[in-house]
Amino acid sequence: MDVATALDRLPKVELHCHVEGTMRPQTVVDLARKNGIALPGEDPTTLYRYTSLDTFLEVFWLVQSTLVDRGDWARLAYESIVDGAAHGLVYRETFFTPARHLDAGADLGEIIAGLAEGLAAAEDETGVRAALIADIDRAYGPEAGLELVEQLVELRRRGAPGTERILGIGLDSTELGVDPTTFAPAYELAARWGLRRTSHQGEVTPPTTIAAGLDVLGCERIDHGLSILDDRELTRRVADQRIPLTVCPTSNVRIANAVERLEDHPYPRMRDVGLLATVNTDDPAMIDLDLGTEYRAVAEAFRYDFDTMVAIALDGVEASWLDDDDRRRLRRRVEEEAATLRALLGAGGSRRGHA
Ligand code: ADE
Ligand code: ZN
Repeated sequence: MDVATALDRLPKVELHCHVEGTMRPQTVVDLARKNGIALPGEDPTTLYRYTSLDTFLEVFWLVQSTLVDRGDWARLAYESIVDGAAHGLVYRETFFTPARHLDAGADLGEIIAGLAEGLAAAEDETGVRAALIADIDRAYGPEAGLELVEQLVELRRRGAPGTERILGIGLDSTELGVDPTTFAPAYELAARWGLRRTSHQGEVTPPTTIAAGLDVLGCERIDHGLSILDDRELTRRVADQRIPLTVCPTSNVRIANAVERLEDHPYPRMRDVGLLATVNTDDPAMIDLDLGTEYRAVAEAFRYDFDTMVAIALDGVEASWLDDDDRRRLRRRVEEEAATLRALLGAGGSRRGHA
């Protein structure tokens, strides 16, 4: 077995993946046709061209707009897990961002129920487990964010279908020109109701936003956190406290345009200073990616061997919001399957990372 195959098969956790960003091109076409949404062309991959986070988000929003009824969300969620399972995904905490749907009058309960139906069907078929994180869209402002959490809390209180899968809240979309601290009321409400908290920070903004995510919003994880190394003290603190960063190396090249090539990405320095920096795909369908390919790309770019990639997979388990027993079980599974793969590599392939 070669390293690329071993990395594809290695059981992996993903903590930074937007369900809308997993939509297959054919599903974009099908849903657009079904729901009367005009696309610029028949091949949606021609849409996936952008030069910055903000121009990417325009495409992301168009893709989101093709989701109209509960069945659409169910199809998306189902396909997202089936596609992940084909590349070693075993557990995912998936973002969904319903702001524009709620703004247009959609029912949050229907969206969550649809997502949960799709995830349950995919779990039965693949054995992958999946949970949800409800993301606030920064572009819609702090009041819409607070309303989302209020609705979420009310649905959970009523035991509405699918709400048992929601672990917490997040914050995504455009970073430039938005003060993250204005979302504090939404985060305070989430904390009061026992929801976990994360937020996208430092993707294209300085480390002050990462500090705001931790200190003002009370986040337990930071999504991206790419700029953290610009602040040594913050870096030390985040490393010492094992606060996870969900890093998306290829996305940072392709979507944020933060670095020109993967080889220039600060990921190895992040790990070297002791940060708990996990590897994730962000929006795999929109950057023609899967988690196996991302692990392989990281191994090749940074000359990581198989054992280093296993350590990264185990960091994903540690950074997850699974309860302690499930986390321990998953850790053991990754270690056992990694040992089997290591033996197969030893029998013929090279353990070096460049697959
Ligand atoms: N929504 C989907 N992908 C995103 C990203 N990389 N950053 C912010 N918001 C997003
Ligand atoms: Zn993201």
